[in-house]
Amino acid sequence: KNQEQQYIQEIRQLMQSRNAVLVAHYYVDPVLQDLALETNGCVGDSLEMARFGRDHEASTLIVAGVRFMGETAKMLSPGKKVLMPTLEAECSLDLGCPADQFSAFCDAHPDRTVVVYANTSAEVKARADWVVTSSIALEIVTYLHEKGEKIIWGPDRHLGQYIQNNTGADMLLWQGSCLVHNEFKAAELASLKKQYPDAKVLVHPESPAGVAALADVTGSTSKLIQAAIELPAQTFIVATDAGIMHEMQKRAPGKTFISAPTSGNSATCKSCAFCPWMAMNGLAGIKQCLLDGSGEVTLDKTLAERARLPLDRMLQFAE
Ligand code: 13P
Ligand code: SF4
Repeated sequence: KNQEQQYIQEIRQLMQSRNAVLVAHYYVDPVLQDLALETNGCVGDSLEMARFGRDHEASTLIVAGVRFMGETAKMLSPGKKVLMPTLEAECSLDLGCPADQFSAFCDAHPDRTVVVYANTSAEVKARADWVVTSSIALEIVTYLHEKGEKIIWGPDRHLGQYIQNNTGADMLLWQGSCLVHNEFKAAELASLKKQYPDAKVLVHPESPAGVAALADVTGSTSKLIQAAIELPAQTFIVATDAGIMHEMQKRAPGKTFISAPTSGNSATCKSCAFCPWMAMNGLAGIKQCLLDGSGEVTLDKTLAERARLPLDRMLQFAE
């Protein structure tokens, strides 16, 4: 605790002297989420993080999340320095969608509009017509479907299937998945629901279809937090990274949040889901990158400009 306070104090001073602001995701360590809010930074879903970073006047953005979030920030703010506590924080969706293979998939279907999830590399974004995040994917695909467009979707097959089921759009799906959400189990969730018949079920759409079918609310991390605040229920079963519970507990005190069942691969928390890459973000990393500029996100200028086009399309659509 003492060392934590020491770090926080040093980071606050460094952030001031470097004109830096902290942009964090709901899955990172609660200490970082609190620090972001206390220093007038942002804690948000992927779309909110992207917008906040783009619109903030600070000259340095510290992005606590995974690499695609840092890269998105850099694409939208090429003139700012973008630092990450670690550049090793990957995402299984990004790793499971190599740009050359995805590009070949697109080339094989030139009549289709290419829509990719934000959880991708700059190269994959550069091949896309649209980038979407979970908070706006349904609206954008509905819009494209109504215009009569056929779609290539990548990389998350569960989110793709969820959108397909809800829009009826003609979508060819890349077969990627998130190593965290893919582990939620429908049968076990159905039993847990029986144990807590009054509980509402909140599901991130990267979860398998059987899990999403049991949801009262499906959506981005921000949407799930909003539901936890607004729904008149006392107990919630949550199918997403358990880091989100911190904000849920703060915003809806007195309510009970239970993690949805997974295959249970952690000794300390049998049914909790945690993204290993989100967990790599810590105070030590933040201090270090502020001190010596390590963890700087750099992108090839031409690539970043190309990848920004479908991102801007999404942000304009969202406005
Ligand atoms: P959100 O955009 O809903 O925050 O999701 C990002 C993510 O990586 C979920 O696993
Ligand atoms: Fe990627 Fe899944 Fe981690 Fe989100 S939770 S960053 S989708 S691996």
